Amino acid sequence: MNIGVLGTGSVGEAIASALIENGHSVKMGSRTASNEKSIEWVKKTGKNASQGTFDNAASFGELLFLCLNGAYALDAVRSLQLDHVAGKIVIDLTNPLDFSKGMPPTILDEFRHVSLGEKIQEILKGAFVVKTLNTVNYKLMVDAQIVNKGDHHLFVSGNNADAKNKVMHFLVDNFKWKPDRFVDVGDIKSARTVEAIVPFWVTVMQALHTPLFNFKIVH
Ligand SMILES: NC(=O)c1ccc[n+]([C@@H]2O[C@H](COP(=O)([O-])OP(=O)(O)OC[C@H]3O[C@@H](n4cnc5c(N)ncnc54)[C@H](OP(=O)(O)O)[C@@H]3O)[C@@H](O)[C@H]2O)c1
Repeated sequence: MNIGVLGTGSVGEAIASALIENGHSVKMGSRTASNEKSIEWVKKTGKNASQGTFDNAASFGELLFLCLNGAYALDAVRSLQLDHVAGKIVIDLTNPLDFSKGMPPTILDEFRHVSLGEKIQEILKGAFVVKTLNTVNYKLMVDAQIVNKGDHHLFVSGNNADAKNKVMHFLVDNFKWKPDRFVDVGDIKSARTVEAIVPFWVTVMQALHTPLFNFKIVH
């Protein structure tokens, strides 16, 4: 499948590389087509890898991953041509975090009452935004088995049930998530509280001295 990965940070690179390993073709997007990190990634990754602007990656992908800095994610999303994302599933794993007052971070003021996931869905009207993966470390995103043999949970938010289903299947098939370890928490509005646990996740990470853990829901 052709997949657009928007973002050149450690998350974008981990997702893009894991997708290539699973046999997909990936275009990594950035603010500029001459981004050094994405050029370097293409060089070391080979023939199924390419790079370009955020909009080039959106246009290329049948499925898109948003791996954007939370403070600037909406600027990047606004740079996309709407007809390049219409009808596509957009996996949003960004977090609207404010590190300016030290650790653990807080939620950026503008996202106290509305989630980044909702704002992205509002801008990308014709796309199916699914918020997930934002509550786990990037190494775990792409291989759920590295913590407790995959026995832990992932939250999924989005307005379209079929899109959420497809994303869950994709994560099972590509990133080794267990099919019964998803918690569908509702429409994209539910991303408000899911994004809000990420500062707590950072607190737990500081206490455990490792980012390789996850939440397990029992009832
Ligand atoms: N680290 C983790 O394990 C983890 C886990 C869960 C969720 N997340 C979330 O994943 C996202 C990506 O994290 P990351 O550490 O890989 O990368 P990051 O440094 O937070 O973001 C990198 C991307 O943000 C873009 N960006 C930066 N400034 C911008 C601006 N002014 N306008 C538009 N775009 C801008 C960069 O564009 P260029 O390519 O042009 O430089 C780059 O593609 C974040 O939202 C983070 O909260 C991270």
